Amino acid sequence: NSKPIAIMGVFAIDLAFRVNRLPVWGETVLGSEFRLGPGGKGSNQSVAAARLGAQVHFISKVGSDNFGDIARRTYKEEGVDTQFLFSSDSDTTGAAAIIIDEIKGENAIVITPGAANALTTDEIDLARTQIAGSAVFMTQLELPLPIVVHGLNTAHGLGVPTILNPAPACALDDTTLALCDYLTPNESEAEALTGRRVASLEDAESAAGQLLARGVRNVILTLGARGALVKTSSMTVHIEAFNAGPVIDTTGAGDAFNAGLAVALSEGMSLEDAARFGCVVAGISVTRHGTAPSMPRRAELEQYKQASYKK
Ligand code: RIB
Ligand code: NA
Repeated sequence: NSKPIAIMGVFAIDLAFRVNRLPVWGETVLGSEFRLGPGGKGSNQSVAAARLGAQVHFISKVGSDNFGDIARRTYKEEGVDTQFLFSSDSDTTGAAAIIIDEIKGENAIVITPGAANALTTDEIDLARTQIAGSAVFMTQLELPLPIVVHGLNTAHGLGVPTILNPAPACALDDTTLALCDYLTPNESEAEALTGRRVASLEDAESAAGQLLARGVRNVILTLGARGALVKTSSMTVHIEAFNAGPVIDTTGAGDAFNAGLAVALSEGMSLEDAARFGCVVAGISVTRHGTAPSMPRRAELEQYKQASYKK
């Protein structure tokens, strides 16, 4: 009975390789394992939010090719609304090469958004009514910046709270930051936004303070294994990461966190509880392979309810 969530972003097919080290230019290295699955930050967030029980409108564009078919099949299975998933006949569906360190679980990613780069402002405008009826509007920085700004502007103008997950890292001007009710950078993204190193918890706090001063309403800085820092004009809270078992693959953990945050906020949880909920969603996702396929379902969260978040 909570309102839907509108998510705008990229779908990409993730081609994930496990290796013991990155190749250098001109070199070939042997990998130990390969997996193909649905990815792209906006798409991962949509799948995760749907699995958590939200009604999701995903605004994006894919190609008319095999990878695009996988996207559509995924949304059908996951129950993500595709009324605003446009198709391009001239561009290929997004794809991402993901290299995962088989020992440390770290990753390096190359993403080409493909058809998603051809999403137009007119197409976003077609979703105005659905954006207006949503509890939150969430997007990332994988789409071209003018499109991201148009989406944020649209939601903001309609009085719909906005979440910007500023990934991948990019500097943003104050006008764009002022359109963000919630900004969710990780440490390196916070560095790109502030131009200052973010290593310690104190650094994170001062980076968050800087972003508030530049017009963001709420900053939720994700800190990987150290959890998240929530900062608003009236509070600063550090939330511990959630340990759901051995870490297998951290790719998509940020997407899991953002989806959890968005769903919790849409259900009326406090910001602090919503960030805690996001940490639980992320903590479960890293114990499984892949991005979208590793997202937990709502029922799995229930067992952790007492221990980690209220409601
Ligand atoms: O956040 C993880 C995602 O980043 C992957 O699914 C990959 O497609 C890139 O977009
Ligand atoms: Na995962």
